[in-house]
Amino acid sequence: MTTLVDPHGRPINSLRISLTQRCNFNCFFCHHEGEHGSGDELTVDEVERIVKLAAEQGITKVKLTGGEPLVRKDIVEIVRRISPLVEEVSMTTNASRLKELAGPLKDAGLARVNVSLHTLCPESFEEITGNGTESVTTGIEEAVKYGLNPVKLNMVVMKGINNEEIDSLIDYSREVGGVLQLIEFQELEDGVEHYDSYHYDLVPVEEDLEKRSNKVVEREMHLRKIYYLKDGARVEVVRPMHNSKFCAYCTRIRVTSDGKLKSCLMRDDNHVPFVSLMRGGAPEEEIIGAFNEAVSRRAPFWRDE
Ligand code: 5AD
Ligand code: SF4
Repeated sequence: MTTLVDPHGRPINSLRISLTQRCNFNCFFCHHEGEHGSGDELTVDEVERIVKLAAEQGITKVKLTGGEPLVRKDIVEIVRRISPLVEEVSMTTNASRLKELAGPLKDAGLARVNVSLHTLCPESFEEITGNGTESVTTGIEEAVKYGLNPVKLNMVVMKGINNEEIDSLIDYSREVGGVLQLIEFQELEDGVEHYDSYHYDLVPVEEDLEKRSNKVVEREMHLRKIYYLKDGARVEVVRPMHNSKFCAYCTRIRVTSDGKLKSCLMRDDNHVPFVSLMRGGAPEEEIIGAFNEAVSRRAPFWRDE
């Protein structure tokens, strides 16, 4: 197996594919995976071909994202086709359709899910997502029941919105047997509105978690830390903003929902056309060349001055 390495010495082993920009929720802070395009979504055959090619280049993990991947009617078929091609297929979802789909997705080969859950308070949930909590908590329970483990709960921490709820989400994640992932509110290159009002510093939160833990493990990806709390909970912290270490250990490349290769969440200026080559019948070498070109355009976004 080849190991892909970018010009900054970072091995690339994970591919994040946005399957749609559509979503049945409407989170006011959604970064839309850094996408602005509006071309046609990838077909099942195209997703399969992308994953096969990427696997041949050294990709071992695929994360399906959106928008909301579960709004796609062919989502189970997509997972079924790609799961034999790589070591792990996982998904980021709002869980609202997991009640019906957790079982079929598990059968199709999905390994695990990340569920966005920013609050347990029904009013705040409605305020953040424009929807109710019930389908989401049921979806989380189904995901655990079908063994989509570890079920990670993604909480984007926002000042004045949910920063007081970190402890209740720690308790909830422990009770359901999941892992809480605290995510720093991110500002994209062209500016997410409200950044100054909502950004909440997670450094003091990490200091507090450290004191409450009996073990801390640093993951290879982004050097994120996982805190094993003395009460049995597990909390992972995702702190990308102005964090050069986060970028120095970034091992992923992205495909946008309209089929372009994207080297970094934060950048919109160096995409490489990809699926358009497949659609135009380009030779295999040219398509592989585009993949390698995208890897060569990768550069850490946050660096030490
Ligand atoms: N900052 C941080 N995280 C965000 N997400 C969406 N928008 C933002 C943002 N501006 C989260 C989603 C999902 C994960 C992929 O990213 O809630 O859980
Ligand atoms: Fe965006 Fe996810 Fe919220 Fe949908 S559920 S609006 S994709 S953050």
